[in-house]
Amino acid sequence: MNLEVLCLSLLLFEASCFTEFEITVPRNTVTGFYGEVLILPCTFPVDSSWDLRSTLILWQRGLDVVHSFYYSQDQLDRQNLHFVNRTSLFIQEMAGGTASLKLDEVTLQDAGVYTCSVSTNTGSQKKSFGVKIAAFYSEPRLQFSLLTDGVDLLVTSDGGYPSPTLQWLMENSDITNQTQTHITQDTQTGLYVVSSWINLTDVSNSSLTFILHNNPLGQDIRREIHLYSDKSERQGESAYRCNGCFIYIPVILLLIVMSVSFVFIIRRRRRRRRRRRRREQTKQNGFTEMKSIFLMENV
Ligand SMILES: *[C@@H]1O[C@H](CO)[C@@H](O)[C@H](O)[C@H]1NC(C)=O
Ligand SMILES: *[C@@H]1O[C@H](CO)[C@@H](O)[C@H](O)[C@H]1NC(C)=O
Ligand SMILES: *[C@@H]1O[C@H](CO)[C@@H](O)[C@H](O)[C@H]1NC(C)=O
Ligand SMILES: *[C@@H]1O[C@H](CO)[C@@H](O)[C@H](O)[C@H]1NC(C)=O
Repeated sequence: MNLEVLCLSLLLFEASCFTEFEITVPRNTVTGFYGEVLILPCTFPVDSSWDLRSTLILWQRGLDVVHSFYYSQDQLDRQNLHFVNRTSLFIQEMAGGTASLKLDEVTLQDAGVYTCSVSTNTGSQKKSFGVKIAAFYSEPRLQFSLLTDGVDLLVTSDGGYPSPTLQWLMENSDITNQTQTHITQDTQTGLYVVSSWINLTDVSNSSLTFILHNNPLGQDIRREIHLYSDKSERQGESAYRCNGCFIYIPVILLLIVMSVSFVFIIRRRRRRRRRRRRREQTKQNGFTEMKSIFLMENV
Protein backbone atom coordinates (compact mmCIF):
# COMPACT_ATOMS: atom_id res chain seq x y z
CA MET A 1 0.00 0.00 0.00
CA ASN A 2 2.63 2.46 1.12
CA LEU A 3 4.73 1.59 -1.90
CA GLU A 4 1.85 2.39 -4.21
CA VAL A 5 1.36 5.74 -2.55
CA LEU A 6 5.07 6.42 -2.87
CA CYS A 7 5.00 5.44 -6.53
CA LEU A 8 2.02 7.61 -7.23
CA SER A 9 3.60 10.59 -5.59
CA LEU A 10 6.84 9.92 -7.49
CA LEU A 11 4.86 9.71 -10.72
CA LEU A 12 3.48 13.12 -10.00
CA PHE A 13 7.04 14.35 -10.17
CA GLU A 14 7.48 12.43 -13.41
CA ALA A 15 10.04 10.15 -11.87
CA SER A 16 10.21 6.55 -12.97
CA CYS A 17 8.83 4.07 -10.54
CA PHE A 18 10.58 0.75 -11.18
CA THR A 19 11.80 -1.48 -8.45
CA GLU A 20 15.54 -1.00 -8.58
CA PHE A 21 17.26 -4.02 -10.13
CA GLU A 22 20.36 -4.25 -8.01
CA ILE A 23 22.92 -7.04 -8.15
CA THR A 24 25.32 -7.73 -5.29
CA VAL A 25 29.05 -8.44 -5.54
CA PRO A 26 31.80 -8.24 -2.88
CA ARG A 27 32.67 -4.69 -1.85
CA ASN A 28 36.28 -5.53 -1.13
CA THR A 29 38.93 -7.35 -3.07
CA VAL A 30 38.49 -11.11 -2.95
CA THR A 31 41.53 -13.27 -2.17
CA GLY A 32 41.96 -16.53 -4.03
CA PHE A 33 44.32 -19.25 -2.88
CA TYR A 34 46.80 -20.69 -5.33
CA GLY A 35 45.78 -24.11 -6.62
CA GLU A 36 42.41 -24.05 -4.92
CA VAL A 37 38.84 -23.32 -5.94
CA LEU A 38 37.71 -19.71 -5.87
CA ILE A 39 34.06 -18.68 -5.73
CA LEU A 40 33.34 -15.25 -7.17
CA PRO A 41 30.06 -14.18 -5.54
CA CYS A 42 27.30 -12.39 -7.44
CA THR A 43 23.55 -12.38 -6.70
CA PHE A 44 20.59 -10.77 -8.41
CA PRO A 45 16.98 -10.11 -7.37
CA VAL A 46 14.35 -12.63 -8.47
CA ASP A 47 10.57 -12.46 -8.11
CA SER A 48 7.74 -14.78 -9.11
CA SER A 49 7.99 -13.68 -12.73
CA TRP A 50 11.62 -14.82 -13.03
CA ASP A 51 12.30 -16.88 -16.11
CA LEU A 52 15.44 -18.91 -16.81
CA ARG A 53 15.19 -18.49 -20.58
CA SER A 54 15.36 -14.71 -20.37
CA THR A 55 18.31 -14.76 -17.94
CA LEU A 56 21.73 -13.75 -19.19
CA ILE A 57 24.85 -14.00 -17.04
CA LEU A 58 28.21 -12.79 -18.25
CA TRP A 59 31.46 -12.88 -16.31
CA GLN A 60 34.40 -10.91 -17.64
CA ARG A 61 37.89 -9.99 -16.59
CA GLY A 62 38.59 -6.71 -18.26
CA LEU A 63 37.31 -7.36 -21.78
CA ASP A 64 37.98 -11.10 -21.68
CA VAL A 65 35.01 -13.42 -21.42
CA VAL A 66 35.43 -15.66 -18.38
CA HIS A 67 32.03 -17.37 -18.63
CA SER A 68 28.68 -16.67 -20.22
CA PHE A 69 25.20 -18.16 -19.90
CA TYR A 70 22.06 -17.52 -21.96
CA TYR A 71 19.26 -19.50 -23.67
CA SER A 72 19.22 -21.62 -20.48
CA GLN A 73 22.76 -22.92 -20.90
CA ASP A 74 26.47 -22.17 -20.77
CA GLN A 75 27.74 -20.44 -23.89
CA LEU A 76 31.48 -20.83 -24.01
CA ASP A 77 32.35 -20.15 -27.63
CA ARG A 78 33.93 -16.80 -26.84
CA GLN A 79 35.49 -17.83 -23.54
CA ASN A 80 39.08 -16.70 -23.12
CA LEU A 81 41.53 -19.63 -23.39
CA HIS A 82 42.94 -18.88 -19.97
CA PHE A 83 39.66 -19.94 -18.35
CA VAL A 84 38.80 -22.98 -20.47
CA ASN A 85 37.60 -26.00 -18.43
CA ARG A 86 37.94 -24.09 -15.15
CA THR A 87 34.66 -22.21 -14.78
CA SER A 88 31.12 -23.13 -13.83
CA LEU A 89 27.95 -21.49 -12.54
CA PHE A 90 25.62 -22.79 -9.85
CA ILE A 91 22.74 -23.50 -12.21
CA GLN A 92 20.66 -25.28 -9.56
CA GLU A 93 20.73 -22.12 -7.45
CA MET A 94 20.06 -19.65 -10.24
CA ALA A 95 16.32 -19.55 -9.47
CA GLY A 96 17.29 -18.19 -6.05
CA GLY A 97 19.25 -15.35 -7.62
CA THR A 98 22.75 -16.85 -7.69
CA ALA A 99 25.07 -15.86 -10.52
CA SER A 100 28.28 -16.73 -8.66
CA LEU A 101 31.16 -18.22 -10.59
CA LYS A 102 33.31 -21.15 -9.53
CA LEU A 103 36.88 -20.96 -10.76
CA ASP A 104 39.03 -24.08 -10.36
CA GLU A 105 42.78 -24.47 -9.91
CA VAL A 106 43.52 -20.83 -9.26
CA THR A 107 46.89 -19.49 -10.48
CA LEU A 108 48.62 -16.14 -9.98
CA GLN A 109 47.49 -15.14 -13.49
CA ASP A 110 43.86 -15.13 -12.32
CA ALA A 111 44.27 -11.85 -10.46
CA GLY A 112 42.45 -8.83 -11.88
CA VAL A 113 39.16 -6.97 -11.94
CA TYR A 114 36.14 -9.17 -12.60
CA THR A 115 32.75 -7.97 -13.77
CA CYS A 116 29.47 -9.78 -13.19
CA SER A 117 26.68 -8.76 -15.60
CA VAL A 118 23.16 -10.05 -15.09
CA SER A 119 20.11 -9.42 -17.23
CA THR A 120 16.67 -10.88 -16.53
CA ASN A 121 13.10 -10.07 -17.49
CA THR A 122 13.00 -7.55 -14.62
CA GLY A 123 16.19 -5.60 -15.28
CA SER A 124 19.91 -5.69 -15.83
CA GLN A 125 23.06 -4.45 -14.17
CA LYS A 126 26.79 -5.09 -13.98
CA LYS A 127 29.28 -4.64 -11.16
CA SER A 128 33.01 -5.20 -10.73
CA PHE A 129 35.38 -6.16 -7.96
CA GLY A 130 39.06 -7.03 -7.60
CA VAL A 131 40.57 -10.47 -7.18
CA LYS A 132 44.05 -11.08 -5.84
CA ILE A 133 45.82 -14.37 -5.41
CA ALA A 134 47.88 -15.47 -2.45
CA ALA A 135 49.57 -18.66 -1.28
CA PHE A 136 50.73 -19.95 2.07
CA TYR A 137 54.42 -20.55 2.67
CA SER A 138 55.39 -24.12 3.37
CA GLU A 139 56.65 -25.44 6.67
CA PRO A 140 60.22 -24.05 6.96
CA ARG A 141 63.04 -26.56 6.55
CA LEU A 142 66.05 -26.22 8.77
CA GLN A 143 69.52 -27.25 7.59
CA PHE A 144 72.91 -27.18 9.22
CA SER A 145 76.31 -26.93 7.62
CA LEU A 146 79.44 -27.44 9.63
CA LEU A 147 82.13 -24.85 9.30
CA THR A 148 85.61 -25.08 10.77
CA ASP A 149 84.72 -22.27 13.16
CA GLY A 150 81.00 -22.68 13.70
CA VAL A 151 77.67 -23.62 12.23
CA ASP A 152 75.74 -22.29 9.28
CA LEU A 153 71.99 -22.39 9.85
CA LEU A 154 69.82 -22.31 6.75
CA VAL A 155 66.04 -22.00 6.76
CA THR A 156 64.07 -22.42 3.53
CA SER A 157 60.40 -22.11 2.74
CA ASP A 158 58.63 -22.02 -0.60
CA GLY A 159 55.35 -21.96 -2.44
CA GLY A 160 54.21 -18.65 -0.96
CA TYR A 161 52.83 -15.44 -2.38
CA PRO A 162 53.29 -12.50 -2.15
CA SER A 163 56.88 -11.83 -1.09
CA PRO A 164 57.27 -12.26 2.69
CA THR A 165 59.02 -10.20 5.33
CA LEU A 166 61.58 -12.06 7.41
CA GLN A 167 62.99 -11.45 10.82
CA TRP A 168 65.57 -13.22 12.97
CA LEU A 169 65.82 -12.75 16.69
CA MET A 170 68.47 -13.92 19.10
CA GLU A 171 67.34 -13.77 22.72
CA ASN A 172 64.77 -11.13 21.71
CA SER A 173 67.24 -8.80 19.99
CA ASP A 174 66.94 -8.32 16.26
CA ILE A 175 69.82 -9.93 14.35
CA THR A 176 68.25 -9.75 10.90
CA ASN A 177 71.15 -7.58 9.79
CA GLN A 178 73.57 -10.43 10.47
CA THR A 179 71.67 -12.81 8.24
CA GLN A 180 71.45 -13.18 4.49
CA THR A 181 68.28 -13.81 2.57
CA HIS A 182 67.55 -14.80 -1.00
CA ILE A 183 64.01 -14.49 -2.29
CA THR A 184 63.40 -15.85 -5.78
CA GLN A 185 60.33 -16.63 -7.86
CA ASP A 186 59.62 -20.03 -9.32
CA THR A 187 59.70 -19.48 -13.09
CA GLN A 188 56.69 -21.71 -13.72
CA THR A 189 54.32 -20.87 -10.89
CA GLY A 190 55.55 -17.39 -9.92
CA LEU A 191 55.48 -18.44 -6.26
CA TYR A 192 58.30 -17.30 -4.00
CA VAL A 193 61.15 -19.42 -2.68
CA VAL A 194 62.86 -18.05 0.42
CA SER A 195 66.26 -18.99 1.85
CA SER A 196 67.67 -17.25 4.84
CA TRP A 197 70.83 -18.16 6.67
CA ILE A 198 73.12 -17.14 9.49
CA ASN A 199 76.63 -18.18 10.51
CA LEU A 200 77.11 -18.80 14.19
CA THR A 201 80.70 -18.85 15.25
CA ASP A 202 79.98 -19.21 18.95
CA VAL A 203 77.97 -22.39 19.39
CA SER A 204 77.01 -21.94 23.00
CA ASN A 205 73.56 -22.00 24.59
CA SER A 206 71.42 -19.68 22.58
CA SER A 207 67.91 -19.24 21.37
CA LEU A 208 67.14 -18.08 17.85
CA THR A 209 63.77 -17.22 16.40
CA PHE A 210 62.98 -17.24 12.72
CA ILE A 211 59.86 -15.29 11.74
CA LEU A 212 58.19 -15.20 8.33
CA HIS A 213 55.21 -12.90 7.76
CA ASN A 214 52.91 -13.26 4.78
CA ASN A 215 50.91 -10.17 5.55
CA PRO A 216 47.95 -10.33 3.15
CA LEU A 217 47.09 -13.80 4.48
CA GLY A 218 47.89 -13.10 8.10
CA GLN A 219 50.25 -16.08 7.91
CA ASP A 220 52.83 -15.76 10.63
CA ILE A 221 55.37 -18.56 10.85
CA ARG A 222 57.52 -18.40 13.95
CA ARG A 223 60.10 -21.07 14.71
CA GLU A 224 62.40 -21.23 17.66
CA ILE A 225 65.75 -22.90 17.39
CA HIS A 226 67.44 -23.68 20.67
CA LEU A 227 71.12 -24.45 20.69
CA TYR A 228 72.35 -26.18 23.79
CA SER A 229 75.88 -26.92 24.65
CA ASP A 230 77.10 -28.86 27.66
CA LYS A 231 80.41 -29.00 29.45
CA SER A 232 82.06 -31.19 26.85
CA GLU A 233 81.25 -28.59 24.27
CA ARG A 234 82.52 -25.91 26.54
CA GLN A 235 85.87 -27.69 26.29
CA GLY A 236 85.18 -27.92 22.61
CA GLU A 237 84.86 -24.19 22.37
CA SER A 238 88.37 -23.69 23.53
CA ALA A 239 89.23 -26.48 21.15
CA TYR A 240 88.33 -24.23 18.26
CA ARG A 241 91.71 -22.75 18.82
CA CYS A 242 93.29 -26.16 19.20
CA ASN A 243 94.17 -28.05 16.05
CA GLY A 244 94.18 -31.45 17.70
CA CYS A 245 90.54 -31.17 18.72
CA PHE A 246 89.09 -30.40 15.35
CA ILE A 247 87.99 -33.96 14.68
CA TYR A 248 86.23 -34.18 18.02
CA ILE A 249 84.05 -31.09 17.51
CA PRO A 250 82.52 -32.05 14.16
CA VAL A 251 81.54 -35.43 15.63
CA ILE A 252 79.59 -33.72 18.39
CA LEU A 253 77.97 -31.34 15.95
CA LEU A 254 77.11 -34.13 13.55
CA LEU A 255 75.22 -35.99 16.29
CA ILE A 256 73.37 -32.80 17.12
CA VAL A 257 72.42 -32.30 13.51
CA MET A 258 71.14 -35.85 13.21
CA SER A 259 68.96 -35.70 16.29
CA VAL A 260 67.49 -32.40 15.17
CA SER A 261 66.75 -33.69 11.69
CA PHE A 262 65.03 -36.69 13.21
CA VAL A 263 62.81 -34.61 15.47
CA PHE A 264 62.20 -32.27 12.57
CA ILE A 265 61.12 -34.97 10.13
CA ILE A 266 58.60 -36.42 12.57
CA ARG A 267 57.12 -33.05 13.34
CA ARG A 268 56.99 -32.06 9.73
CA ARG A 269 55.03 -35.15 8.81
CA ARG A 270 52.53 -34.46 11.54
CA ARG A 271 52.27 -30.86 10.44
CA ARG A 272 51.65 -31.69 6.82
CA ARG A 273 48.52 -33.54 7.87
CA ARG A 274 47.45 -30.52 9.87
CA ARG A 275 48.20 -28.13 7.06
CA ARG A 276 44.85 -28.19 5.33
CA ARG A 277 43.09 -27.68 8.64
CA ARG A 278 45.42 -24.80 9.38
CA ARG A 279 44.54 -23.13 6.10
CA GLU A 280 40.91 -23.19 6.99
CA GLN A 281 41.74 -21.81 10.38
CA THR A 282 43.82 -19.03 8.94
CA LYS A 283 41.06 -18.07 6.60
CA GLN A 284 38.70 -17.79 9.52
CA ASN A 285 40.91 -16.10 12.02
CA GLY A 286 43.08 -14.16 9.64
CA PHE A 287 45.91 -15.01 11.96
CA THR A 288 47.60 -18.19 12.94
CA GLU A 289 50.68 -18.48 14.95
CA MET A 290 52.48 -21.72 15.09
CA LYS A 291 55.31 -22.31 17.36
CA SER A 292 57.67 -25.16 17.62
CA ILE A 293 60.81 -25.80 19.45
CA PHE A 294 63.66 -27.77 18.03
CA LEU A 295 65.51 -29.09 20.96
CA MET A 296 69.10 -30.04 20.63
CA GLU A 297 69.72 -32.70 23.19
CA ASN A 298 72.95 -32.76 25.07
CA VAL A 299 75.29 -35.19 23.47
C1 LIG B 1 39.00 -29.10 -21.84
O1 LIG B 1 38.41 -30.37 -21.60
C2 LIG B 1 38.16 -31.10 -22.78
C3 LIG B 1 37.39 -32.36 -22.40
O2 LIG B 1 37.88 -32.92 -21.22
C4 LIG B 1 39.48 -31.41 -23.46
O3 LIG B 1 39.26 -32.13 -24.64
C5 LIG B 1 40.19 -30.11 -23.78
O4 LIG B 1 41.45 -30.36 -24.33
C6 LIG B 1 40.34 -29.26 -22.54
N1 LIG B 1 40.87 -27.97 -22.92
C7 LIG B 1 41.86 -27.37 -22.27
C8 LIG B 1 42.33 -26.06 -22.79
O5 LIG B 1 42.37 -27.86 -21.27
C1 LIG C 1 70.21 -2.80 10.04
O1 LIG C 1 71.03 -2.04 9.16
C2 LIG C 1 70.44 -0.85 8.70
C3 LIG C 1 71.41 -0.17 7.73
O2 LIG C 1 72.26 -1.09 7.13
C4 LIG C 1 70.13 0.05 9.88
O3 LIG C 1 69.49 1.24 9.41
C5 LIG C 1 69.21 -0.66 10.85
O4 LIG C 1 68.98 0.15 11.98
C6 LIG C 1 69.82 -1.96 11.26
N1 LIG C 1 68.86 -2.67 12.09
C7 LIG C 1 69.18 -3.27 13.24
C8 LIG C 1 68.07 -3.94 13.96
O5 LIG C 1 70.31 -3.28 13.67
C1 LIG D 1 78.48 -18.14 6.11
O1 LIG D 1 79.61 -18.91 5.78
C2 LIG D 1 79.61 -19.37 4.45
C3 LIG D 1 80.80 -20.29 4.28
O2 LIG D 1 81.96 -19.76 4.88
C4 LIG D 1 79.65 -18.18 3.52
O3 LIG D 1 79.62 -18.61 2.18
C5 LIG D 1 78.42 -17.30 3.79
O4 LIG D 1 78.48 -16.15 3.00
C6 LIG D 1 78.36 -16.92 5.25
N1 LIG D 1 77.10 -16.26 5.50
C7 LIG D 1 76.99 -15.18 6.27
C8 LIG D 1 75.63 -14.67 6.48
O5 LIG D 1 77.95 -14.62 6.77
C1 LIG E 1 73.97 -24.89 28.50
O1 LIG E 1 72.79 -25.39 29.12
C2 LIG E 1 72.96 -26.63 29.75
C3 LIG E 1 71.59 -27.10 30.23
O2 LIG E 1 70.75 -26.01 30.49
C4 LIG E 1 73.97 -26.49 30.88
O3 LIG E 1 74.15 -27.75 31.52
C5 LIG E 1 75.28 -26.02 30.28
O4 LIG E 1 76.22 -25.78 31.33
C6 LIG E 1 75.07 -24.72 29.52
N1 LIG E 1 76.31 -24.36 28.83
C7 LIG E 1 76.73 -23.11 28.74
C8 LIG E 1 78.00 -22.92 27.97
O5 LIG E 1 76.18 -22.17 29.28
